[in-house]
Amino acid sequence: MDRYAVMGNPISHSLSPTIQAAFARATREPIEYTALLVPLGTFAQSARRFFDEGGRGANVTLPFKLDAFDLAATRTERAIVAGAANFLAARNGAIEADNTDGAGLVTDLTRNHGVRLEGARILVLGAGGAARGIIAPLLARKPACLVIANRTAARALELAARFRDRGPVEGVALDAIARDGYDVVLNATSTSTHGESLPLPAHALPSGAFAYDLAYGAGARAFVERAKAAGMKAADGLGMLVEQAAESFELWRGVRPQTGPVLAELRARMA
Ligand code: ATR
Repeated sequence: MDRYAVMGNPISHSLSPTIQAAFARATREPIEYTALLVPLGTFAQSARRFFDEGGRGANVTLPFKLDAFDLAATRTERAIVAGAANFLAARNGAIEADNTDGAGLVTDLTRNHGVRLEGARILVLGAGGAARGIIAPLLARKPACLVIANRTAARALELAARFRDRGPVEGVALDAIARDGYDVVLNATSTSTHGESLPLPAHALPSGAFAYDLAYGAGARAFVERAKAAGMKAADGLGMLVEQAAESFELWRGVRPQTGPVLAELRARMA
């Protein structure tokens, strides 16, 4: 059995072991994938020990995505652009960092939800770590525009400036979102994770458009319900979680697992 793990704190709620076990069964890959609770402040030593003891790869979740990026000997371009890593792999005796979150989001939006990103007007709410990881993969799909709106306007402006050479991106304050008829609205703030309310002008949730919360499950429900009440189609980020897991599995094992059955099983379990 090749050993893999997801590392985070907290970690007991993580669905990653369930998802990876289902991929392993379906593809008959001999892997063991466990959840590791990493004490705060000990990520580097815990991850090094895991790889020294033969671990082949790890997913990394909150609050260690920056530590994972810093720890690695080599980093993929998309990890460098995101400035964070959710994926580590042992490659020729060294640890490589990647970021599969953005690819997971784009796959879920386009393949599972049928959202067209090319030519779309995209509104991203939030300018923290989660937002930073998705801007480049979204711009790579050639939207008409991508507006980053954040409570602290300066962070939105800063993030937009960082990606300006990759496409039409601008930053605004949450209360200065224009009436621009957005097609896709993505909640990348931490409000769903922390159960906080997100103050938004009504025109930030335009009827007929598609709303998506990067969080999933109970936390994302308030945003998803609010978007539906505004006449939007809406989904939480469970599919992003499953798709980033599939991307990780393929990078480690060279086999792309099917995500549909796992996603359906998790949805049924959550309902
Ligand atoms: P994450 O890694 O989850 O993105 P983060 O880097 O701390 O976490 O970023 C949190 C994001 O959610 C930020 O964009 C934050 O806005 P500020 O930059 O103004 O802090 C946003 N956020 C958090 N709580 C919020 C709230 N109650 N209302 C609006 N935005 C909020």
